[in-house]
Amino acid sequence: MHAHAEGFRRAAALPYRLRNAVRPIGKTSGVSLDDWILALHLLSAFAYVGAIILFWVIIVAVWRLDAPDPTIRLGPVARLGTVAVGIGGAGTLIFGIWLALSVADYDLWDGWIIAAIVLWAIAGALGQRTGVEYARGVTKAIELRDAGRAGPDAELLALNRTQRGLVLHSLVTVTVLLILVDMIWKPGT
Ligand code: HEM
Repeated sequence: MHAHAEGFRRAAALPYRLRNAVRPIGKTSGVSLDDWILALHLLSAFAYVGAIILFWVIIVAVWRLDAPDPTIRLGPVARLGTVAVGIGGAGTLIFGIWLALSVADYDLWDGWIIAAIVLWAIAGALGQRTGVEYARGVTKAIELRDAGRAGPDAELLALNRTQRGLVLHSLVTVTVLLILVDMIWKPGT
């Protein structure tokens, strides 16, 4: 009789021992650790995409800048973008890999997860090159300012309108949009 009761108790408790199982009411808020990690993954993705948009704003702004001072003044805005892309990029990767390992439905070796990691690395490499291209204009602007040449400069304008930078940032944008499509459709699942 006692053994039966114990058996029932164990059977009733079983679902609560499973990963992602419904837990006893009153003991948790109903928000699992994986839910929190997904929230952080999505917030990171917002920061990442937001930074890419911010870089577009900067690209449009420098398009018409041929004088050193206004070019240099965009420095703090660019730094904000760099911080956001760093936090957002790292966060999407770390929390994304965490989710792939932790959520029962997914695996780190799923095609769509591997695709996301590869595209993420490509976007990062392209983004770094974009930064190098646009830094040329800033370097030139600082040189001009230090030489006391505050007026318009054709070479500075040409650097601010870097074709390579424009193409590279377009590729970053397309690559991150591909990751987003991959995330939402999860091809192969
Ligand atoms: C680079 C490595 C990445 C990995 C390994 C990864 C992994 C994952 C995983 C496993 C999920 C499913 C979570 C769940 O259902 O609980 C997810 C969801 C999501 N991820 Fe990522 N992710 C990565 C990057 C990104 C990036 C860069 C973005 C945005 C640009 C992004 C946007 C999203 C969105 C919007 C969802 C929710 C989609 C849905 O379930 O409907 N992820 N990610």
